[in-house]
Amino acid sequence: RVVAVIMVGGPTKGTRFRPLSLNVPKPLFPLAGQPMVHHPISACRRIPNLAQIYLIGFYEEREFALYVSSISNELRVPVRYLREEKPRGSAGGLYSFRDYILEDNPSHIFLLNCDVCCSFPLAEMLDAHKIYGGMGTVLVIKVSAESAHQFGELVADPITKELLHYTEKPETFVSELINCGVYVFTPAIFAAIQDVFMQRRGKAELRRVTSFEALQSATKSIPADYVRLDQDILSPLAGKKELYTYETLDFWEQIKTPGMSLKCSALYLHQFRYTSTHLLASGNDTKRASITGDVYIHPSAKVHPTAKIGPNVSISANARIGAGARLISCIILDDVEILENAVVIHAIVGWKSSIGKWSRVQGGGDYNAKLGVTILGESVAVEDEVVVINSIVLPNKTLNGSVQEEIIL
Ligand code: GDD
Repeated sequence: RVVAVIMVGGPTKGTRFRPLSLNVPKPLFPLAGQPMVHHPISACRRIPNLAQIYLIGFYEEREFALYVSSISNELRVPVRYLREEKPRGSAGGLYSFRDYILEDNPSHIFLLNCDVCCSFPLAEMLDAHKIYGGMGTVLVIKVSAESAHQFGELVADPITKELLHYTEKPETFVSELINCGVYVFTPAIFAAIQDVFMQRRGKAELRRVTSFEALQSATKSIPADYVRLDQDILSPLAGKKELYTYETLDFWEQIKTPGMSLKCSALYLHQFRYTSTHLLASGNDTKRASITGDVYIHPSAKVHPTAKIGPNVSISANARIGAGARLISCIILDDVEILENAVVIHAIVGWKSSIGKWSRVQGGGDYNAKLGVTILGESVAVEDEVVVINSIVLPNKTLNGSVQEEIIL
């Protein structure tokens, strides 16, 4: 049997995702109309012999309760949220819930970061992992040399695929091959994490008896029960025939900023063509609107038949889109109202916001730039005939004049 664990992190980790993370935990922010964490969960559902899915994080339990029970019913696989009382790092968090994880006596454990967007080739990874015969297999991808430093960089044997060397976010270039934040392990991973605890304790003890100065430096270092999977496990175990790599040639992105969520929404909408066509709005449905490219429209949303929608648009529950409105590359959240002839391009429109007649809310479309996507927080009102370009507007603001390249606090 197989168990999957998805690391969802906690509120302090989501600061780069503001203002969208002010309303909803980042893992529940909708991409292609589904909560971010829904995409790895549905990928896990396709693993043969899956017994359980655990979400581990330090958000309040009630923030996930509703989602976890509805997704368990929908997928007919138990999904459970386990709350850490404090962050223990990716490996420390996993270790602290080992009793739950080992309950089903799994032969393999998948570990997935919640904030990555990819096709999650989990079954293929598991097959490769069984052939390699190590303790763990890491999903890897080649990225450009300029962007590699934002990730864990690694070197793998071209023939055996063994992980030979691993450095987390190095200052000098090591390799274009990076860690995708998706792993499969045998239960031996728990012994490896325990070894790190023991070594730490041993070192602290040694320092305590050797000198007062050393003790001072030890107290400044990371807590003994904080273990990071990358630095503390992958780096020391590289080159010991314990860890292997599986390279994906498909898409992969990391979702740290609102701009990237728009890009990832597009990637997942496109993937729906192969996995969930029923979620894509169809261009033949003339009652609805004219649809171009990949579009998701929640069944409760009301879109005027003369509106033009797409490509890359997702419209959440109870949104209302007026006559002649034009929407391209945007995420429209719950209860938004877009009035007649308004235009929204490369933008995220927050819950309960409204955009007036003939208004224009637009970003430049550079997903990596700070102001490349225009973002309206919750309950922002853009009045009629107002133009908002490359800006971020915090919740509850009313815009009665046009703005460009501004952050409106
Ligand atoms: N539950 C829990 N507890 N989750 C955590 C904790 C923790 O203490 N710390 C981090 N996470 C979660 C985050 O929410 C995220 O989903 C994942 O674990 C990894 O987060 P970070 O440890 O902040 O690392 P990162 O995202 O900067 O980089 C990692 O992922 C990259 C791929 O996206 C590294 O492993 C990189 O090497 C890798 O390239």
